Amino acid sequence: MCGIVGYVGARNAVPIVLEGLKRLEYRGYDSAGVALLTAERITVVKRVGNIKKLEEALRSGTPAATIGMGHTRWATHGEPDEPNAHPHLDCRGDIALVHNGVIENYAVLKRRLLDSGHIFRSETDTEVIVHLIEEFHQGHTSLEDAVRRALTQVKGTYGVAVVCRQEPDKLVVARNGSPIAIGVGDGEHIVASDASAIVAHTRKVLYLEDGEMAVVTADSVRTTTLAKVPVEKFIQELTLDLQDIERGEFEHFMLKEIHEQPETIRNAMRGRLLRPEEDVKLGGLEHVKEQLLRAKRFIFLGCGTSWHAALVGEYLLEQIAGVQAEVEYASEFRYRNPIVGKGDVVFAISQSGETADTLAALREAKSRGATALGIVNVVGSTIARESDGGVYIHAGPEIGVASTKAFTSQLTVLALITMMLARARGVAKDKLSLLLHELEDLPEKVEEVLLASDRIRGIAEEFKSAQNFLYLGRGANFPVALEGALKLKEISYIHAEGYPAAEMKHGPIALIDENMPVVVIAPKDSIYEKVVSNIQEVRARKGRLIIIANEDDQAIANLAEHVIRVPRTYGYFGPILNVIPLQLLAYHIAVARGANVDQPRNLAKSVTVE
Ligand code: G6P
Repeated sequence: MCGIVGYVGARNAVPIVLEGLKRLEYRGYDSAGVALLTAERITVVKRVGNIKKLEEALRSGTPAATIGMGHTRWATHGEPDEPNAHPHLDCRGDIALVHNGVIENYAVLKRRLLDSGHIFRSETDTEVIVHLIEEFHQGHTSLEDAVRRALTQVKGTYGVAVVCRQEPDKLVVARNGSPIAIGVGDGEHIVASDASAIVAHTRKVLYLEDGEMAVVTADSVRTTTLAKVPVEKFIQELTLDLQDIERGEFEHFMLKEIHEQPETIRNAMRGRLLRPEEDVKLGGLEHVKEQLLRAKRFIFLGCGTSWHAALVGEYLLEQIAGVQAEVEYASEFRYRNPIVGKGDVVFAISQSGETADTLAALREAKSRGATALGIVNVVGSTIARESDGGVYIHAGPEIGVASTKAFTSQLTVLALITMMLARARGVAKDKLSLLLHELEDLPEKVEEVLLASDRIRGIAEEFKSAQNFLYLGRGANFPVALEGALKLKEISYIHAEGYPAAEMKHGPIALIDENMPVVVIAPKDSIYEKVVSNIQEVRARKGRLIIIANEDDQAIANLAEHVIRVPRTYGYFGPILNVIPLQLLAYHIAVARGANVDQPRNLAKSVTVE
């Protein structure tokens, strides 16, 4: 969701905060603002729109400040306008605050604060926090204590940073459910909601846990719990590289990330395939292997693209390892009083490791006694820290809001987990050996698929004005149909639906006419003939077919306007290849429509609110 950056040190805070905000813009981008603290006052500048607008506003002259903070917003309460943009000020303009998260009891608090004379200038839930701090920051109370007391009154999630005119040497930060990292530099500190805003300055970082706060000056960080108990923090080394979070030669992050997939899939496997044992070693699952082997049931939880990966995981686990698997939307699971407990293994799948619903679902499963594991990209994220174990997908930072490389890496890791279980459950070594070779060949095959990009751009040009799209697939390619449709609607705003191909005749077939593009995933697998029948049904109604088919499938060329070729692989690994043309199709259509690919309207990269 929103992004926070703060600076305290000897340098001018403005360029550092702005640069940090640009790195975080993918997390929220409907408005942005900064607060700069000088001895005399706090200067706040806000703009609706992206960081460039804010940068232009700041060019026209701002005080040089060595302490400051900024925020890029993804609106929850109140539309994206200047009053609602952060930072928010108290009544006197002495305290400024930026906030990520949602304050659930804000309406009650606001009523009370209004009754005692506070003046609100926004419709946000956030503003109550700064007025509460103001209430407590009377007399001799320090900013730290005022923040502490205010936060004990709020219910909900927050990552906050606060500055105060009377204490111009410090930033106070606190966390509950929304990440805060503190970068430790030489005589300076950079606080941020995401390490990508820190890495340009230092690799040394410490993370706050829920219920912790810190007082940050140029040369010290003092961490305590909200109950004032001192906490000793360990500095961690960031493994992130600056080039990982830059676009390089690519026009958009999404395109860069699509093209990174041969490498990211390789990285997901690196060091994990054991030869000649024909086995898989996953360090983060070693200590729970017993539970994994004894488990009667696996439950995959996730949201968005990660939920689609989970659906493929269900096929992998059931078909190859022969264990029962279920998939649930994290948001549904957590509120449905799920029957889950000891003996169950739950995998929370999340690129960011911060999605509020996925985290809450993981906690729910854990509290009921299940073995709670994570399949996560962001190292050190909350889900990674709170799970009993898990597997990193090692896809590197994913900046484009529409997830691409994380999806194929999630599938790769799900395949690895499946192989490990299959081997331990006695699936023949020969069979696994073949599958492991198939897996190893995938990066090269992905490279081949990527060569189709220019052709797909041509197809995109032809279909860019379509108003609807239907995506069809069967078996493990049904989730791929869902993912293809999701990619298209996320970034091009064309309505798209993914459907199991056989289900088409129970509804969507009514929509098919000569204007309806229908994308069908039709690899030469055991249900190929069935898919071809579905293709015929579309043809009979003059639907405009785009088919994803294997290279050696000549016959299919007679059935469709457009055929995009992918190499053959083992059926249940097919989704890793078949999704790539769909990512490219969505990308090129969005570009052809002039959409903002990396920052689609209304969406956010990491959804830390319910
Ligand atoms: C948001 C993003 C999606 C992502 C989903 C789950 O909606 O825009 O791309 O798939 O959250 O995120 P996670 O980080 O948990 O995988």
